[in-house]
Amino acid sequence: MRLLLQVLAICALAFAAPSPRANYVVHERRAAEPVAWTKTRRLEAHKILPLRVGIRQENTHELEEILTSISHPESPTYGQHWSPEKVVEYFSPSQATISTVKRWLIDTGFHPDRIRVSPSKSWIDIAMTASEAESLLDTEYHVYTHPSGHEQIGCESYSLPDHVREHVELIKPTVHFVHRVPDDPALSLKRSTNKLGAPSSYNGPKTNGAQVADALSLATCDKFITPECLRALYSIEYEPIVPHLNSYGIVEFTPQAYLASDLDLFFTNFSKSQIGTRPALVSIDGGIVQTQNQSFDFNGESNLDLEYAMALTNPTPVTLLQTGDLVQGAGFDNWLDAVDKSFCTFQGGDVPNQDGIYPDPAPGGFNESESCGIIKPPNVVSISYGQDESSATVAYATRQCIEYGKLGLMGSTVLYSSGDYGVAGYGGVCLDNNGQPVDGGKKFSPDFPATCPFVTAVGATQINPNSTVNDPESACEQVIYSGGGFSNIFPMPSYQKDAVKSYLKNYPPPYTAEQYNNSGTVRAYPDLSANGANYVVALEGGFSLVFGTSASAPVVGSIITLINDARLAIGKRPLGFINHVIYSPWFSWAFNDITSGGNQGCGTPGFSSTKGWDPVTGVGTPNTKFLLAEFLLLP
Ligand SMILES: *[C@@H]1O[C@H](CO)[C@@H](O)[C@H](O)[C@H]1NC(C)=O
Ligand SMILES: *[C@@H]1O[C@H](CO)[C@@H](O)[C@H](O)[C@H]1NC(C)=O
Ligand SMILES: *[C@@H]1O[C@H](CO)[C@@H](O)[C@H](O)[C@H]1NC(C)=O
Ligand SMILES: *[C@@H]1O[C@H](CO)[C@@H](O)[C@H](O)[C@H]1NC(C)=O
Ligand SMILES: *[C@@H]1O[C@H](CO)[C@@H](O)[C@H](O)[C@H]1NC(C)=O
Repeated sequence: MRLLLQVLAICALAFAAPSPRANYVVHERRAAEPVAWTKTRRLEAHKILPLRVGIRQENTHELEEILTSISHPESPTYGQHWSPEKVVEYFSPSQATISTVKRWLIDTGFHPDRIRVSPSKSWIDIAMTASEAESLLDTEYHVYTHPSGHEQIGCESYSLPDHVREHVELIKPTVHFVHRVPDDPALSLKRSTNKLGAPSSYNGPKTNGAQVADALSLATCDKFITPECLRALYSIEYEPIVPHLNSYGIVEFTPQAYLASDLDLFFTNFSKSQIGTRPALVSIDGGIVQTQNQSFDFNGESNLDLEYAMALTNPTPVTLLQTGDLVQGAGFDNWLDAVDKSFCTFQGGDVPNQDGIYPDPAPGGFNESESCGIIKPPNVVSISYGQDESSATVAYATRQCIEYGKLGLMGSTVLYSSGDYGVAGYGGVCLDNNGQPVDGGKKFSPDFPATCPFVTAVGATQINPNSTVNDPESACEQVIYSGGGFSNIFPMPSYQKDAVKSYLKNYPPPYTAEQYNNSGTVRAYPDLSANGANYVVALEGGFSLVFGTSASAPVVGSIITLINDARLAIGKRPLGFINHVIYSPWFSWAFNDITSGGNQGCGTPGFSSTKGWDPVTGVGTPNTKFLLAEFLLLP
């Protein structure tokens, strides 16, 4: 039987008329199978795929320049953010591009009624069977299974006719096969074995917890970070004047959730006036603050982010962008959908096998349509989640990165933590020569979205043991190492050219192109940093010590939120995209340069903190008082 089929196939090949696919060219290919997922079977031919063609947007090559013109401190148009309408209009694909893609679909045999163009024109939506998609894209779809039982579909590569390729950014679902955030949270957060004042039921290693907890003060910040320590470290003296005009968003991905009782415990000790205060919940795609499962893994990140963001910006309202339902979870694109209508499904950048797709038909799933443009982007958004850059395709990372640039255009500051594994990727894994994660890999593994040039990436520092809040900090070398390095996808943005050039010239790292792209032409990160060690976090009724760039990002977000308050109070705009400003020589005095410590990983000491910018702690940690003075001078 089998032999016969093969023979027939060969005949068909030999005698077939020139195939309509003759001019097909591979458009995107995945370099390797995703770690931990097994290809289990061919996708059934009749299964319906919600195929979405991401149409090439216009003018995206101008995004960097436009963003510069409204965020460079010397630009005459500083702070003149764009309206959402103007952003949509400026980057919408051209009519010719849309027509070419539609023509191709119609010529391939799809009835025009099946083809839907999104309102922002950047997507064409067309549902089809797996077998139709396989033929259209000259590919094969398979089902992949994760040890957790999750299944995803994907293909290894797909092809498009040559004349169509230049009009398409990406098509999904195809090769963008990466774990959604809940599957591999890359949760940039670690806990030490210390537990402060832990309930006696705690069975982990015991420490001198309770005694130490009694003595918390500015003198113990090297061992226990509290809001008071951070205020002293970063000269945070400002009290908000116009909290009702301001907004600060914290993104969390379900099932991560805060515990109300823990917030109150934290406030009882560190911010009494806030007892009973909660973040304003914005539920994105069925996002709920679940209380079903409670443990460090479920509450650690949310508790940390909210306790510190709320205490440091009190009484500014903090918005919780709780993203994803309990069944499916969500990815980065889902929160982008919620703040940017032009990005939503049928309109935006979701990738079904990376991002949650709603409505979710599973029992208990979020069965309404996707949360799309439901809130105005907050003035500051802090996100303490990330993924290995190597797990995203260039097209996917680029399209999402452009969205961050658009948020900057509209006046939002988007902060991502830079990762906790130094120069290594999630779990300490590094890359092989092909850029794929492998055990024993030698190549450094950068973190996304931190490497997107349109976000502000935040690394971690520490107060050195036995030092005080008045001594210089070092790069964090306790429990975690600050994520930092050089992108394998994104070119170097103008704002950091001088800083990175000077770093590579004056302090050449002892590595070659084997470890990282040392050409001096790629995006380097992080941009700045803040303390990431020994955070006292109320957790499950006690106090735990938490480490991570996860802590650093919301602290920087809090400082920017305070500066926004001061600007809003005198009728100025919020800061928006801050990278041009923080690398500018006029602002360098407003940062504490970090010059010691490194970010080891991949069997190396990693990069070292040096005078000036470095790929461990960026330009340094903020001095809020000085930053306020400078930012109030800007128009
Ligand atoms: C919290 O406050 C209680 C009561 O004042 C005190 O006993 C405890 O040590 C404090 N815990 C921390 C971590 O500050
Ligand atoms: C809670 O944990 C149970 C057992 O591990 C699991 O089946 C359930 O899905 C979890 N619930 C959430 C909200 O994650
Ligand atoms: C959607 O989910 C809600 C709550 O689980 C349920 O009451 C409702 O019947 C569902 N609607 C549909 C159309 O499935
Ligand atoms: C910190 O001080 C303590 C007590 O004086 C000492 O035992 C310890 O070795 C010091 N640690 C460091 C890193 O200097
Ligand atoms: C480094 O980046 C540059 C610019 O993107 C690229 O041309 C070059 O091939 C990269 N080098 C390596 C070794 O990947």
